[in-house]
Amino acid sequence: MSLVTTKEMFEKSMKEHFAIGAFNINNMEIMQAIVDAAKEEKSPVILQASSSAIKYARVNYLMKMLEAAVEETDVPIAIHLDHGPDFETCKMCIDAGFTSVMIDGSKYDFEENIAITKKVVDYAHERGVVVEAELGKLAGIEDDVNVSESDAMYTDPDQAKEFVERTGCDSLAIAIGTSHGAYKFKGEAKLRFDILEKIKEKLPNTPIVLHGASTVIPELVETCNKYGGNIPGAKGVPDEMLHEASVRGVSKINVDTDLRLAMTAEIRKVFAENPEAFDPRKYLTPARDKITEVVRHKMRDVFGSNNKA
Ligand code: G3H
Ligand code: 13P
Ligand code: ZN
Repeated sequence: MSLVTTKEMFEKSMKEHFAIGAFNINNMEIMQAIVDAAKEEKSPVILQASSSAIKYARVNYLMKMLEAAVEETDVPIAIHLDHGPDFETCKMCIDAGFTSVMIDGSKYDFEENIAITKKVVDYAHERGVVVEAELGKLAGIEDDVNVSESDAMYTDPDQAKEFVERTGCDSLAIAIGTSHGAYKFKGEAKLRFDILEKIKEKLPNTPIVLHGASTVIPELVETCNKYGGNIPGAKGVPDEMLHEASVRGVSKINVDTDLRLAMTAEIRKVFAENPEAFDPRKYLTPARDKITEVVRHKMRDVFGSNNKA
């Protein structure tokens, strides 16, 4: 199967009420782990690289590895730029063969966000590439926002409609209470499903994207801490809420932190239990297997994308 854009997988997700996982890649082991999971679950999958991941792994290496992944897989795979910071980075990825890019203009005001998004959409669409944009702000608990500020951070449903109409973007990332990283909530986890519902009412045919959607899997945090890590109080979005989001109109769910935790937990464990080990395969093999296990669980038990390839 060749690389695909997200167009058809999103159409299917909206029709059949499930979500597609978008998993961040940084190296060969992570890519293999995710693709193996997709193969085993017969699930469509989005592999996404941030600009810092591209800087780390190098775009040529990523694309060549992807070619191998696609060659030995028969599920739809899209390659997506995560949080494209500017037009130039989006252009570089489109020219390198990415099938989807995100232009993250959420740091700009509404009009500037529209202008930069439209510029990327025009370039991408001429080349058959799709574009994700973002409206609203994903504040983490460490960002120190007060209540009235936090209300202003959520995506406004009327603005969302105007934004999509004026930019022609293919999918929209929204802010309904998630945030990036391992510290998402101080108390109980809470997502604004009421806002999601209003956005879906205004934009029934636009695929919606949820960033900052790692569960911050408690067992992984525990293993990290048990074997020398120090990440107390880490907390993410529970599986039940992510499942609800996928049923209620979210088409793409972004996961990076859980993969980082899975890899780190396994490597810490091997190092602690085998201080004599120094062959990288000895710790990268269980790390890769753990990522596959985590991704399979999400596809099958949370997002419902299994058997949808
Ligand atoms: O949302 C951000 C992703 O987790 C990527 O993070 O820029 O450190 O690669 P990164
Ligand atoms: P997490 O930090 O919750 O994994 O979010 C990842 C993300 O949104 C990538 O764009
Ligand atoms: Zn994100």
